[in-house]
Amino acid sequence: MSTPMPPDQLEEFRTMEFPVLQQVIHLNHAGVAPVMTRAMLAAAHFSAEAARTGQKNYVQWEERIEKVRQIASWFIGAQPEEVAFVRNTSHGLSLVAEGLDWKPGDNVVTTAVEYPSNVYPWLNLKNRGVATKLVPSRDGEFRTEDLVAAVDSRTRLVSVSHVEFSTGFRFDLKELADAVHAKGALLCVDAIQSLGVHPIDVVRMGVDFLAADGHKWLCSFEGCGIFYIRKSLIGQVRPVLVGWNSVVKNKDFDTYDFTLPDHARRFEEGSLPQLTIFPLGAVFEKFAEIGIERIERMALDNAARVREEIRRRGHKVVNFRGSPLDVAITCFTGDFDGAPVVRAMKQQGCDLAFRRGAVRVAPHFYNNASDIERFFAIFDRAVKGN
Ligand SMILES: Cc1ncc(COP(=O)(O)O)c(C=O)c1O
Repeated sequence: MSTPMPPDQLEEFRTMEFPVLQQVIHLNHAGVAPVMTRAMLAAAHFSAEAARTGQKNYVQWEERIEKVRQIASWFIGAQPEEVAFVRNTSHGLSLVAEGLDWKPGDNVVTTAVEYPSNVYPWLNLKNRGVATKLVPSRDGEFRTEDLVAAVDSRTRLVSVSHVEFSTGFRFDLKELADAVHAKGALLCVDAIQSLGVHPIDVVRMGVDFLAADGHKWLCSFEGCGIFYIRKSLIGQVRPVLVGWNSVVKNKDFDTYDFTLPDHARRFEEGSLPQLTIFPLGAVFEKFAEIGIERIERMALDNAARVREEIRRRGHKVVNFRGSPLDVAITCFTGDFDGAPVVRAMKQQGCDLAFRRGAVRVAPHFYNNASDIERFFAIFDRAVKGN
């Protein structure tokens, strides 16, 4: 069992890496997270280097991109050739949706509480004769059998969020993957609400496709995410966007040889966004050094503090499932009007969210007990003033 960071070390880390704490009590990592100092510096250093040196260091930049690919792959238990950089989660999920060889009558199974990124790419297949089945939750929760019951002989894919954005429900991916595979379908995962706070091992969990962006639990910028595709499936997903970089001989601009590599790079059609990839790499490196188990432990401890505060006030936590599928996201309702309370708190320097009728609080590992106490003091005032 991993131990939390000692308080003095945590304090130093907070000061160095999260200048946001001087202005905002940020408990909204399920929304848009604050950018870490090291991510900001990686972008700044790259910008300065590019401005000073032009393209002189281009080869080193390419090597640096491959290093980021390596650490991103390592972070999810994949091989580098199974990981492509994408603009965002929606981009990664759309690569699967648009790239699979659907036949009229096929279907996709997902849930009725997904973020739209994991619904619209499937609904967009309607004109190709592909149906999307939305499995309802049981009070925000799912049992594997609920999803599997919706899988029939024409289901090609089940696509869920590892952690649901509005309910904080966390799937047991291994159990789900085993059940889905037993029925002959594939498992696709939107991991934006777990990458950077919960361990992910695509091999152990049996995930076939995964997409996530860096601007939530990874505390990096919007505009750069990762897409994982299991190696054996690379040939089964047609790249819908292609360009000079899609091919094996991506540096041969003189002859046309449209041979796609047996590598997720076939999904990177053109020039890559160094400006957002390098910051993401800087965060992955730091998170790897701290250890994802430790990060998860600390974030879950903070979530437990949040739940305690909510219950002490007599409000209802709507999403807590408990170990081993505990989450850092807490959603709650109570005898108050959530939307104006959240609005008032934002005006007073708190960052949180109101989603599907519940207040959503999502502390990360670097938050501390004082952040949470101050947050709830502001919450109490906002509820009184409501
Ligand atoms: C579950 C989930 N998927 C995807 C996204 C965002 O997708 P993208 O990375 O395409 O902006 C969010 C953002 O709130 C989310 O909660």
